[in-house]
Amino acid sequence: YRGYPIEQLAENSTYLEVAYLLLNGELPKADELAVWEKTIGSHAMVHESVRQFLDGFRWGSHTMGMLVSVLGAKSTFYPDSRNISSPELMELHTARLVSKVATVAALCYRHSRGLPYIYPDASLGFCENFLNMLFNSPNTKYEPNPILVKALEVLFILHADHEQNCSTSTMRGIGSSLADPYSSTAGAAAALYGPLHGGANEAVLKMLMEIGDVKNVPSYIERVKSREVLLQGFGHRVYKHYDPRASIVKQTANEVFEVTGRNSLIDIAMELERIALEDDFFVSRKLYPNVDFYSGIIYQAMGLPVDMYPVLFAIPRTAGWLAQWKEMMHD
Ligand code: ACO
Repeated sequence: YRGYPIEQLAENSTYLEVAYLLLNGELPKADELAVWEKTIGSHAMVHESVRQFLDGFRWGSHTMGMLVSVLGAKSTFYPDSRNISSPELMELHTARLVSKVATVAALCYRHSRGLPYIYPDASLGFCENFLNMLFNSPNTKYEPNPILVKALEVLFILHADHEQNCSTSTMRGIGSSLADPYSSTAGAAAALYGPLHGGANEAVLKMLMEIGDVKNVPSYIERVKSREVLLQGFGHRVYKHYDPRASIVKQTANEVFEVTGRNSLIDIAMELERIALEDDFFVSRKLYPNVDFYSGIIYQAMGLPVDMYPVLFAIPRTAGWLAQWKEMMHD
């Protein structure tokens, strides 16, 4: 990201620092970070009518479908976002989107489960606040575990940007017509939804559950090789070697399991990886685990439902999309 190795950022930074880096080209100094965190905290509330808007979705709706729709609808709340010739307005709406996407994502989750909405709390950090909006309850106090907060920071950092992929190209494509950033972000999120891109984390989890046991891994590999199914979470348009993000996610999984208990699906995933990395079908095609091979296993251990996984990808990627949009507008 902007010349910094992803491993260093994952170890030493918060997601908001990395979002600032992507958007501004350099990591924030302490005073700049304080202003940025305050700005993001101050934009976290959404207009109350978003709740009524969400009420139109049936109970149990896929959270990513709701997120795409609400992001697009947000442009109607901010008519001045169509004035993309103003650098000040571009900055304002960028900060709003980076902040509000987390609130909207949490509202979508709460709506899909029929749970009461939890308002954002500006006294909490970005990831801590997001977990609070997901899991707090009027009758049981939720205290986010610091290890889980850190794990979410790492996952959000790893997912924040990745050059000209499907969703980023969509952001730039829509933005190139001078559409407002809410509409462009909604389009980018729609592109992310598919299982070949950001929906892969959801597809991996479903695949692991379908395999069900380590003993079934060899027969699943045979099905992949006979081209009956894809090995979800494997392969990448850019990486023809081990995705550096995948090894960080794998390490994060072990830290999360210390808190949540081990997710047995990791044994199936590791066996798939072990066999695939030795098998000529995968070796000759340079197919390695990508960032999403292990991320869903962590999200599941943290108690997040499978249909939230693409949404969890979209939250941090919003910063990357906006950084790319800003670069394109300046170009
Ligand atoms: N399982 C089995 N075979 C695969 C897989 C896979 N996951 N990925 C690629 N292949 C095979 C293809 O069938 C092809 O074989 P062939 O040359 O004999 O026809 C060969 O490997 C090369 O495949 P391409 O489609 O050319 O690879 P490309 O780089 O275009 O595709 C993609 C990348 C779309 C990610 C692909 O690897 C895939 O579908 N992976 C599974 C879905 C996934 O994990 N997506 C998430 C990507 S990361 C992200 O978006 C965040």
